[in-house]
Amino acid sequence: MSALFSEFKLKDVTLRNRIAVPPMCQYSATQGLANEWHFSHYNTLARGGAGLVIVEATAVTPEGRITPACLGLWNDEQAEQLAKVAQGIKAAGAVAGIQIAHAGRKANANKPWEGDDHIGSDSKEFWPSIAPSALAFGHHLSRVPEEMTLSDIERVKQGFVDAAKRALDAGFEWLELHFAHGYLAQSFFSKHSNHRNDQYGGNLDGRSRFLLETLQAVREVWPENLPLTARFGVLEYDGKDDETLAESIALIKQLKANGLDLLSVSVGFTIAETNIPWGDGFLGEVAARVRQEAELPVASAWGFAKAEVAEHALETQQLDLVMIGRAMLANPHYPYALAQQLNVDQPSWVLPAPYAHWLERYAI
Ligand SMILES: Cc1cc2nc3c(=O)[nH]c(=O)nc-3n(C[C@H](O)[C@H](O)[C@H](O)COP(=O)(O)O)c2cc1C
Repeated sequence: MSALFSEFKLKDVTLRNRIAVPPMCQYSATQGLANEWHFSHYNTLARGGAGLVIVEATAVTPEGRITPACLGLWNDEQAEQLAKVAQGIKAAGAVAGIQIAHAGRKANANKPWEGDDHIGSDSKEFWPSIAPSALAFGHHLSRVPEEMTLSDIERVKQGFVDAAKRALDAGFEWLELHFAHGYLAQSFFSKHSNHRNDQYGGNLDGRSRFLLETLQAVREVWPENLPLTARFGVLEYDGKDDETLAESIALIKQLKANGLDLLSVSVGFTIAETNIPWGDGFLGEVAARVRQEAELPVASAWGFAKAEVAEHALETQQLDLVMIGRAMLANPHYPYALAQQLNVDQPSWVLPAPYAHWLERYAI
């Protein structure tokens, strides 16, 4: 029996297998609204056989979008469009998840294929970015953000709460807080980007406060029986990872004590110059350590797409859930290929019946 094709139950939600599509920005929205592209894209990913499909980083406030073409969830019209996305995912047998996010100092950028840099202040699409401290990311994102006031912090936390309520009303059953990738929450946690000397900066407690308070506030509105998860960069590959990982695990234990159900283990991406050891399953051992020390189910992405790598990560209990991103963009029916490679002899429970009947009959 393949571990990858075994069910995964978390709270009251059961995934038909352990393949999850991680959030992947489409940069295809207008005014934060999902459209036909999103309906088709997400339904196709679910139809391809994944157990969970997590909708891309969806901004909780307008200035929290990475680009002007990112999805948002700060008004009811956006929730109505996203409800159609959730319906499309569920109709194809997957669980519908969504990542809610604020891009912090990485906000107001051009699309990756249009430069990936900050939009010029003379553009009509310009808006000022906000962050824990007035420090630029650097590299291609060199604009200095405005330091957040305490009322900015309250407003953004409330944005997460309101977006969580709208996500629930829209029919999503799996919520992921975007605490990773150098966006707002991750930049509160990192010493590289947080130089505040009030209660939201300084020592580990101070740098953890925004993340912990956001989780606590969201947990109050997100039902107990549904998974509340987060994606977080547990290290930066900046030469200081022993210290960062120890601090990360301390935070994750606190998040768990306050209602976190699963962590998607990722990289911080708070600084441009890093030494990331890219390669198949390179985060596996790190994820295993988080899983063991924080005693929390974990997922991870970045290079787990090959059948043997995914299966190994599950069998050796590095991961509970495998995130597969780009391979699913290249071929949304990739789970079917994985099932064949792993000799899963009944792919009919991966494929919808109208496909399975014919594929089995002709042994394709
Ligand atoms: C087009 C694209 C968009 C992405 N957008 C997001 C995002 O919205 N949120 C996020 O946490 N990660 C995002 N990522 C990272 C992916 O979730 C994932 O971690 C990455 O693709 C590595 O997994 P893979 O090796 O299976 O592709 C994005 C990646 C790609 C390729």
